[in-house]
Amino acid sequence: MSQIDIKSPKHCGKRGFSVDKVYKKFFFAFSVLFSSILSLILLVWIILHPSKPQFSLKETDIYQLNLSATQLLNSSIQLTLLSKNPNQKVGIYYDDLQVYAAYKGQQITVHSSLPPFYQGHGDSNLLTASLVGTGLPVAPSFGYEVGRDQTAGRLVLNLKVNGRVRWKVGTWVSGRYRLNVNCVAVVAFGPTIPTGPLSSKQGTQCSTSI
Ligand SMILES: *[C@@H]1O[C@H](CO)[C@@H](O)[C@H](O)[C@H]1NC(C)=O
Ligand SMILES: *[C@@H]1O[C@H](CO)[C@@H](O)[C@H](O)[C@H]1NC(C)=O
Repeated sequence: MSQIDIKSPKHCGKRGFSVDKVYKKFFFAFSVLFSSILSLILLVWIILHPSKPQFSLKETDIYQLNLSATQLLNSSIQLTLLSKNPNQKVGIYYDDLQVYAAYKGQQITVHSSLPPFYQGHGDSNLLTASLVGTGLPVAPSFGYEVGRDQTAGRLVLNLKVNGRVRWKVGTWVSGRYRLNVNCVAVVAFGPTIPTGPLSSKQGTQCSTSI
């Protein structure tokens, strides 16, 4: 009798202890797994740290830049951009891309949306956009500035792309980061009225910030 009495609490105690141990083991294994996944992601991110996507302006054509007497501008500009992913192990998703043209800090076309796309490792894509403005109000200095540029023989435009990017590493996709691209187009602009569009085919590199 006494032997059973002694054994049973010991048995109970042992069982309670082992259940606790299982929980502890499980908890320990879980934290090890969790922290190794975290550090793996961090390590991969540090090793692969993505470089900014590169953009360059391939062609700019100004079809129309007509100012009314009431300072309302009609514009029509087409551009071709080359977009390149310089990363060999990171893919890029481009979302919500919007393009517009600016002249001396003033927006001279409305925003034009580009379709979202994915760019694989080291891939390049050509992007074309048609930018227009109809009856856009501009500052009184606009006509004067354009006249000055015409005298100088060159028109300098800014072509801007705003959007968001997501990085893809393996099957993992990052959150969204804001992308701002600024391209400068220098277009020959003589005093004689051109027969075709004012065009520039230089391959200028654009600045990109994320
Ligand atoms: C732009 O204005 C010029 C005169 O300033 C005119 O000859 C030309 O037809 C206009 N272009 C368009 C597309 O309205
Ligand atoms: C701009 O376009 C509108 C609508 O097409 C037209 O009524 C207006 O005369 C144009 N203005 C200029 C300066 O070409």
